[in-house]
Amino acid sequence: MQKHPFTIAISGKGGTGKTTVSSLLIRSFIDLAEIPVLAVDADPNANLHEALGVTVHESLGSMREEAFTRHIPPGMNRHDFIRFRFRQALVEANGFDLVAMGRPEGSGCYCFANDLLSECMLQLEGDYRFIVIDTEAGMEHISRGTLGKPDMLLIVSDPGARGLRTITRIREIATQLGLEPERIHIVFNRFKSGTAPVDIGNDIPIAIIPDDPLVEAADLAATPVSQIPADSPARVAVLDLARKIRYIAYGSDVKTK
Ligand SMILES: Nc1ncnc2c1ncn2[C@@H]1O[C@H](COP(=O)(O)OP(=O)(O)O)[C@@H](O)[C@H]1O
Ligand SMILES: [Mg+2]
Repeated sequence: MQKHPFTIAISGKGGTGKTTVSSLLIRSFIDLAEIPVLAVDADPNANLHEALGVTVHESLGSMREEAFTRHIPPGMNRHDFIRFRFRQALVEANGFDLVAMGRPEGSGCYCFANDLLSECMLQLEGDYRFIVIDTEAGMEHISRGTLGKPDMLLIVSDPGARGLRTITRIREIATQLGLEPERIHIVFNRFKSGTAPVDIGNDIPIAIIPDDPLVEAADLAATPVSQIPADSPARVAVLDLARKIRYIAYGSDVKTK
């Protein structure tokens, strides 16, 4: 068993299925008894909580601003206050906890608060085996260092030629952030049978997730996508992905688990 949690950042163009894949991955780790999982919503259009069926009352973003503008309770310094509020912002659920990052800051300098947030994240990390971050294509929160460097970056993409350009762009950003190429993997989502996924050179996608009517139905009914039946095609594919990630995270130790 690794000492630190294994952090997986899920990126990709809007609408490619980041939130769907993130929530199904969290669900899969729970099914594999790799609990608790920390779910981090780092997409400014935060909706990971909906996909997981929990409610978020506040994001770290609002908390961060508040720590500078609001009166700090007597007997607390800003440090303690941020730590205290951080714990409050954490949503505790069955098998996972969730924290929402909120929108990236505007022009003001929040370096001090960001440092504190990363310190809080570090303290928190000890409690988890896997951390799943639903992020956006620009990976703003990761590039600001608030979330540290992920152990693995998954790029969720449309399996067609259209997705290629985004894959290339995200790879470039990831490389600039110092992420080694072997940590970056492609996930093709919404694969329709009878079509061939686009050729990505020597790279083999770590997962190909089928287009699943049950995912769409959950979306239309506004029910949490993480609760689609265990034998639905997308869920089966993501469970397989979770097993692969677990193997990569634990290395050869996985046999003894
Ligand atoms: N494998 C899939 N099969 C069917 N529909 C999917 C699949 N993955 C995602 N979708 C649908 O695509 C839309 C965008 O997915 P979402 O996860 O919200 O993308 P993102 O978080 O990247 O913006 C949603 O309506 C979702 O239900
Ligand atoms: Mg999303």
